[in-house]
Amino acid sequence: MQNNQPIGIFDSGIGGLTVASAIHKLLPQEQLIYFGDTAHLPYGEKSPEAIKYYCLKIGQFLAQKKCKAIVIACNTASSYGFADLNEFMGDKLPVINVIDPVVNHLIEQKIYKRVGVIATKGTVKSDVYAQKLQSGDNAIEVASLATPLLVPMIEEGFFNNSISKTIINSYLSKPKLKKIDSLVLGCTHFPLIKPEIEAYYKKSIYIVDSAAIVAQHVKEVLSKKNLLSDKLEAKHHFYVSDFTHSFDKTAQLFFHEKVHLEEQNIWK
Ligand code: DGL
Repeated sequence: MQNNQPIGIFDSGIGGLTVASAIHKLLPQEQLIYFGDTAHLPYGEKSPEAIKYYCLKIGQFLAQKKCKAIVIACNTASSYGFADLNEFMGDKLPVINVIDPVVNHLIEQKIYKRVGVIATKGTVKSDVYAQKLQSGDNAIEVASLATPLLVPMIEEGFFNNSISKTIINSYLSKPKLKKIDSLVLGCTHFPLIKPEIEAYYKKSIYIVDSAAIVAQHVKEVLSKKNLLSDKLEAKHHFYVSDFTHSFDKTAQLFFHEKVHLEEQNIWK
């Protein structure tokens, strides 16, 4: 494995670009190969078997592209597909999910004992955050709430307006989330509505945005393996399994820079 090989990142669609953006910001010399499985999104509504299969196939695609590490930039895919993909890749290349770094971060902080999680139906059903947080610290209580309207709302560009405010407030005011001291944004789309979530809580709780935490973890993993790139300029590739102009337009909002989407249908 060479240090100037790219980092592979994948998600069900373009939400994982928030994680790609944080990695790019922290490690600007790294080349990124992103794959958004737009042909199959949303993963939040898919069966665990389907998600496992998608993750294995996409992992193989990124390995063929000579990636030196794979980041599963999707909570739902991390919930169901990480274990199998990680086992499949073995010592060949590291696989990083978006859940473990956040769980470890919260456990290390030691002060958060009533953690809320908002995520897709699939992630909530997997119960992965509660299981992992409680196995690290059994004093932590976890309240997970499925918020399925938020992903299509964000993808349609509805944020920072009165409609998004109403939807966000109606989820966050649910009794389940009443006593939390921290809230995990358990979906890679949610950094785009972080300001609205912060406005709702008025700094009374800690809002955990996984993108920067995951980027830091990626840096640590690559550094330990002596795989950090020393290239000065990196040309990224952003692949999607089903191209539409709407994805092309929205992608920039997630990556914060111009993104050129290329169709690569690995399912044909
Ligand atoms: N990116 C996915 C996640 O973080 C949400 C979108 C989907 O349901 O496909 O869970």
